[in-house]
Amino acid sequence: MNKPTLQTLVIFGGSGDLTFRKLLPAVYNLYASGKFEQNLQVVAVGRRDMDSQAYRELADKWIREQSRFKTDDTLLRQVSERISYYRLDLQAEAAYQGLARLLRQEHADSRLIFYYAVSPSLFESITKGVISAGLQDASVILEKPFGSDLENARQLNGVLEAAFGRDKVYHIDHYLGKEMVRNILAVRFHNAIFSGIWNYQHIDNIQITAAEEDGVGTRGGYYDQSGAFRDMVQNHLFQVLSVLALDEPGDMDNGGLQKAQLQVLKSLHPIDPWDISHYLVMGQYDGYQSEPKVRPDSQTATYAALKVLLDTPRWQGVPFYIRTGKKLDRRETEIIIEFKRTGPDDLPDLLVIKVQPDEGIYLRFNVKTPGEQGSLLPVHMDYCQSCNLRNYQNTPEAYERLLNACIQGDHSMFSQWDQIEASWQFANQILQAWTEAGQPLAGYAPGSSGPDEAKRLLTPEQREWLKVDVTLE
Ligand code: BG6
Repeated sequence: MNKPTLQTLVIFGGSGDLTFRKLLPAVYNLYASGKFEQNLQVVAVGRRDMDSQAYRELADKWIREQSRFKTDDTLLRQVSERISYYRLDLQAEAAYQGLARLLRQEHADSRLIFYYAVSPSLFESITKGVISAGLQDASVILEKPFGSDLENARQLNGVLEAAFGRDKVYHIDHYLGKEMVRNILAVRFHNAIFSGIWNYQHIDNIQITAAEEDGVGTRGGYYDQSGAFRDMVQNHLFQVLSVLALDEPGDMDNGGLQKAQLQVLKSLHPIDPWDISHYLVMGQYDGYQSEPKVRPDSQTATYAALKVLLDTPRWQGVPFYIRTGKKLDRRETEIIIEFKRTGPDDLPDLLVIKVQPDEGIYLRFNVKTPGEQGSLLPVHMDYCQSCNLRNYQNTPEAYERLLNACIQGDHSMFSQWDQIEASWQFANQILQAWTEAGQPLAGYAPGSSGPDEAKRLLTPEQREWLKVDVTLE
């Protein structure tokens, strides 16, 4: 067996929420899974004033709380010893010399991986600092949203590709690492009952919902610049859409999957600006303007619902309805595929892919009502992955899977620049139309199912947002 390579993960934004909640627990989980052969060290870089010892204590607390494994004290100590903290003002270019000295002294034999776990407005400053310190012989993982619009994303991409080279840049979209999002391909392409009917002849519409109970919490500063569309739709939900709608790639590896996803994103049907209100509804929860670091007169949307169509032979005329929001009545991400009715009185068959918090697949279909003639009864079958798999607790989480993929040099689970560019092209157009039309934000009460206005995307077509009461147990 090859000797594991030394790798050093340098996290910019090392004292931020994402690092504590997701990245450090993911590092621990990789070690705890017992399959991880790499020798990974972490240098967390942040602005907060503390030393490595104080940082480790914080990290331990978060790892204990967030790890999917019951933490083992000995292992936690070993992982903790691999973590150090370096204080740096990310916007002070000259200060990166000190970081470079540390990396050359203590991590000289390591492959460097920079993780930009910060707001995209800092990406350029960090890259300049890294270049000026001569550290660009490294891979880089970038959090989303990548850029704030098409132009800004293109400019940023130019800077990053010139600094690191295209094949060293990894755009992370953690939805692509979610277990049930990865499962879509298996369900679609390894079941004759679905693969042959995954098209406009049999599918009436597809609904993608990512509902969150939490508000913006401590992230108001970032979120208020971004809003629901840039934070969730332009990246996570368009990526999910691209996996649901793609044509089967000839070769799943070697970039085939990404090419097929790109085709979907390029085929998003342009929306007529004058008709924008039939395609997009945006809302803001009551009380959002009083959240910390949010402007008191903010017009940032915390909810977005939209309808998109795809210009491909497979999907002619099939609407994809997408919605997401904060402070809603539940935390639930699911995809509902509504099939065409076979007769005017039949209920449509539904396939529900439950992404979170439950993971599973639910299928509703019609049978004859027992003991009666001529009457139908909708029944369902469900596969609860999160309860049936005994080792569910040990299913890798998205960040863990993606971090490991980058460590292995595997790009296949990351979004590609071309995809991001195509998403921005569409997002730019739709956001501009929205602004020009002067559409008001719809208000909604925290804990509700979102603004009523979202219904107007479906009612003219005699459809409705589906709520399938599936509790997988
Ligand atoms: C992040 C967004 O990318 O995804 C957050 O910035 C959002 O605003 C989060 O809450 C949702 O992720 P998950 O995995 O909890 O659905």
